[in-house]
Amino acid sequence: MAFEKVGVVGLGTMGAGIAEVFARAGIRVIGVEADAEALARGRGHLERSTGRALDKGRLTAEEREAILGRVTLTTAREDLADADLVIEAIPEVLEYKVALFTDLDRICKPETVLATNTSSLPVTAIAAATGRPKRVIGMHFFNPAPVMRLVEVVGTILTEDGLLEDVSHLAWQLGKTPVVVGDLAGFVVNRLLLPYLNHAAVLLEHGVARRDDIDAAMRKGVGLPMGPFALLDLIGLDTAYEIMGVLFGETRSTRHAPAPLLRELVGAGLLGRKTGRGFYDQDGPAPAEAW
Ligand code: 3HC
Repeated sequence: MAFEKVGVVGLGTMGAGIAEVFARAGIRVIGVEADAEALARGRGHLERSTGRALDKGRLTAEEREAILGRVTLTTAREDLADADLVIEAIPEVLEYKVALFTDLDRICKPETVLATNTSSLPVTAIAAATGRPKRVIGMHFFNPAPVMRLVEVVGTILTEDGLLEDVSHLAWQLGKTPVVVGDLAGFVVNRLLLPYLNHAAVLLEHGVARRDDIDAAMRKGVGLPMGPFALLDLIGLDTAYEIMGVLFGETRSTRHAPAPLLRELVGAGLLGRKTGRGFYDQDGPAPAEAW
């Protein structure tokens, strides 16, 4: 099936990044936010990200205009009525997602595919809350969405034949590599990545090594682009903590028990890049003796 008009609901870091990915691939996008203020923040994400690409000479001014011109921003969900695909990227709270999908099911034409960008919540529960469970799937992008090449395409026991292939084909069209995964909390990437990030926080708590040394060790010793604390700051400590909570709730395995240090930082509102400070102070000099 052809996906010519795509809706994105929620224009935070991930949603705006996803909207940019579609617009860059020449696909028309309707970006929806709850109110004018959130919409303005979403527009800001899009303008900054494409502006950075312009400054680096990766986009011409005309290409940037064309990309931004393909994105229509609105607060009216009804504008999604004739979209071929709608991707949800709102906060990771199952009841918010279920309420949104119930609404999208009412608004959108019967053929519209509804996708969630959830990192760890059950896609099956979201699908089952609609009247079209066979056309509800997961499309899990990675942060920063315009850069990271993977999309986890999540199918459920209810997914109709052929849909995962169609959505995988779409992911290739976006310049991404699709990996089809089952509806298990954390799918593949977060199921493997989050215990590692959590364990880094445990090592720090136990004083095994300093923050900067743990980050350097994983960059230099394993060749990762970022160490675990820089990556936690990028993902958002609140998001990481929530995902770990879901993994722990599902498995009851101590492997997934969130580190108390993470809980403390989240409780203190030190969420990483989005608040200016997490494990690192984003503006200040990197304190060599920190942690
Ligand atoms: N938005 C758009 N583009 C961005 C960006 C952003 N937020 N951040 C960086 N970029 C682009 C830059 O413009 C640059 O593009 P160019 O090559 O065309 O000039 C390119 O990415 C590289 O950026 P930089 O040179 O500034 O910096 P780095 O080389 O250090 O790369 C990085 C930055 C891409 C973030 C790299 O450090 C990286 O790959 N880090 C790991 C990220 C990762 O693991 N993400 C997955 C997290 S898990 C997840 O998202 C799942 C969720 O459910 C929690």
